[in-house]
Amino acid sequence: MSRILSEKYRSKVTTAEEAAKLIKNGDTLGFAGFTGSGYPKALPVALAAQIKAAHARGEEFKVNVLTGASTAPELDGALAEAGGVNMRMPYQSDPYMRNAINTGVSQYHDVHLSHSGPQVRAGYWGRLDFAVIEVTKIKADGSIVPSSSVGNNNVYLEKADKIILEVNSWQSEDLEGMHDIYSMHVPPHNNPIPILNAGDRIGDTCYHIDSDKVVAVIETDSPDRNTPFKDLDEDSKAIAGHLLDFFASEVKAGRIPKHLLPLQSGVGNIANAVLVGLLEGPFEQFVSYTEVIQDGMVDLIDSGKLLVASATAFSLSPTAAEKMNDRASFYREKIVLRPQEISNNPEVIRRLGVISCNGLLEADIYGNVNSTNVMGTKMQNGIGGSGDFTRNAYISTFVTPSTAKNGDISCIVPMVSHHDHTEHDVMVIITEQGLADLRGLSPKQRAKTIIEKCAHPDFKPMLQDYYDRAVASAKGIHTPHLLTEALSWHQRMLDTGSMRV
Ligand code: COA
Repeated sequence: MSRILSEKYRSKVTTAEEAAKLIKNGDTLGFAGFTGSGYPKALPVALAAQIKAAHARGEEFKVNVLTGASTAPELDGALAEAGGVNMRMPYQSDPYMRNAINTGVSQYHDVHLSHSGPQVRAGYWGRLDFAVIEVTKIKADGSIVPSSSVGNNNVYLEKADKIILEVNSWQSEDLEGMHDIYSMHVPPHNNPIPILNAGDRIGDTCYHIDSDKVVAVIETDSPDRNTPFKDLDEDSKAIAGHLLDFFASEVKAGRIPKHLLPLQSGVGNIANAVLVGLLEGPFEQFVSYTEVIQDGMVDLIDSGKLLVASATAFSLSPTAAEKMNDRASFYREKIVLRPQEISNNPEVIRRLGVISCNGLLEADIYGNVNSTNVMGTKMQNGIGGSGDFTRNAYISTFVTPSTAKNGDISCIVPMVSHHDHTEHDVMVIITEQGLADLRGLSPKQRAKTIIEKCAHPDFKPMLQDYYDRAVASAKGIHTPHLLTEALSWHQRMLDTGSMRV
């Protein structure tokens, strides 16, 4: 049975191919989609085919692609593979898109996720020609039930000149009621965001849009891109163990309550491993104010340990996505999906006292963190929400294996080759080797702690040697460095394929 219950919208049903013909070279499109969920699945593929055909005729055809965050092969993959993306914003993780960014085919603006929507609303991105949004259902009164991510959809629906909707019947109808759509305004018209607890609901369960702006409605029935998580290895378990021990010592010291503070968990396998660690750990009745709902979080809800989770999207394995679809009416009582300007909002994160936990590519001996640019130049994914949470957390933590690429790269380096999170924001760094608590430490104390607790034994003597010579080179200086040598580990990696001497 059709999920389009409003006659006004039923009359606009068309094919993805016909809808794609409305889009022209140079248009700016605000797409739904966040960490592989809730993205349009038909229109971008049809648009990519249209772009390829134009290129074959020797015509120029590129569009500007704005999203919530990373999407999937049918969106970022198809458009990047067609060479059809001029500018991309914000976070992405698709191999084709990454390649287009790193070969100069596409430009990329890597912005904090909580800033991305408000910047479009403010007009920094000029005119928004289209919003292309996946939804679960269009109700008889014209209100629209969101799908498995909210992201920047509220902003794109509000700002776009024209709207294309994809109504995906793969999404569970029981998602209705899980969402909390509350939009901000351009300054100075914002009030305090009235979220006092992670699970507070302050908005609507549906989008309410101007139906006259809707130029096409497409019906689909396709699953989200649900990627399985890697099996937990010994390093991930060790990292999770260090973090849980840290939580226990913070509770004992009276710095956090026994039910912890709202937890944020970043993207990736290590972050998911921490959630699995929590499942086996002693903590109960905690809540989460985070960006994405991963498998580990669903398991924590099932166990009763996690009472409620606020986020903007799912990032689930195929198995967990199936479970979510089957039991959405249960999970909608425990999960709130919000616009990313709210799920990642600094005001709320600071007020609630969130404990953040994110991955990194490399950290330096002083606690600066690079999350985005491999060897300082090559874009991996993007900053995502890591800055939103890290800068505003009550306790900010980062987790990483101490080495990458079969041990050829040390994730602890003398100086990071790109800065995403500065020493001023990074409080705790954890590798499988141990945990460095940097709170209250001077740069020299931080270097001693990070080298001692976090570095891999293969690189520890090299780091110690670098630091000792840096200290000796300028007695008493605040942040000792050997500037001609600080990035030599990265250059050696590029020259020889290893940071080892
Ligand atoms: N130099 C080069 N490559 C490195 C590296 C380094 N110092 N450290 C890790 N890598 C590589 C890994 O080898 C791996 O490569 P592969 O995909 O080819 O196997 C890849 O980066 C991912 O690393 P992994 O160890 O699997 O960690 P992850 O899945 O936890 O991802 C980040 C780590 C930093 C890429 C990821 O956390 C990220 O994109 N962070 C920024 C956004 C963010 O934090 N979002 C959450 C906010 S809510």
